Amino acid sequence: MVSSDPFAPARLGPISLRNRIIKAATFEGRTPRRVVTPELIEFHRRFAAGGVGMTTVAYCAVTRAGSTDGHQIVLDNPEVGAGLRALTDAVHAEGAAIAAQIGHAGPVANPVGTKSPALAPSRVFSPLGMRRTTPRPRPRSPRSSTNTRTAPGCCGTRASTPSRCTSGTAIC
Ligand SMILES: Cc1cc2nc3c(=O)[nH]c(=O)nc-3n(C[C@H](O)[C@H](O)[C@H](O)COP(=O)(O)O)c2cc1C
Repeated sequence: MVSSDPFAPARLGPISLRNRIIKAATFEGRTPRRVVTPELIEFHRRFAAGGVGMTTVAYCAVTRAGSTDGHQIVLDNPEVGAGLRALTDAVHAEGAAIAAQIGHAGPVANPVGTKSPALAPSRVFSPLGMRRTTPRPRPRSPRSSTNTRTAPGCCGTRASTPSRCTSGTAIC
């Protein structure tokens, strides 16, 4: 039987949590240049030191074009990795686990901040951009495609099936 005690240890897939208290994602504005800062590390370290089972890094965009705010971490920036490693190590040192919320804002991305048009499966109105979104091209059927190259950085997805790619690091 699953314990209902919030202080009991828990398994989350392959991760062991010391308790069931999880700090929700709350964008804190501690990444003004879209990379991890000492202030962000200290923020999460303190939750870990306070005893949470896991803390969550708020919205990280897979690409700049997928962000809703000019201050969000953008994961396809090679400079971000070292900061995320330091953040993870600081939280682990306090005995907690850490998660990151990863996403692409699609039609609600902010073109003013991203300097690129909002993307969506179809042409819809983007309230932040005050214009219509740029529809993603329709994926070609893998059977009819002659292009079987794997797109670099595209989560191992074949270039011929771009609709399955959730990573924005490459245009498939
Ligand atoms: C300042 C602030 C920033 C937030 N940022 C995020 C975010 O980046 N991602 C997210 O999924 N939810 C975000 N949330 C929502 C919270 O994670 C939480 O789901 C929400 O506050 C509901 O919890 P409550 O009913 O206890 O207030 C944010 C909430 C607040 C107040």
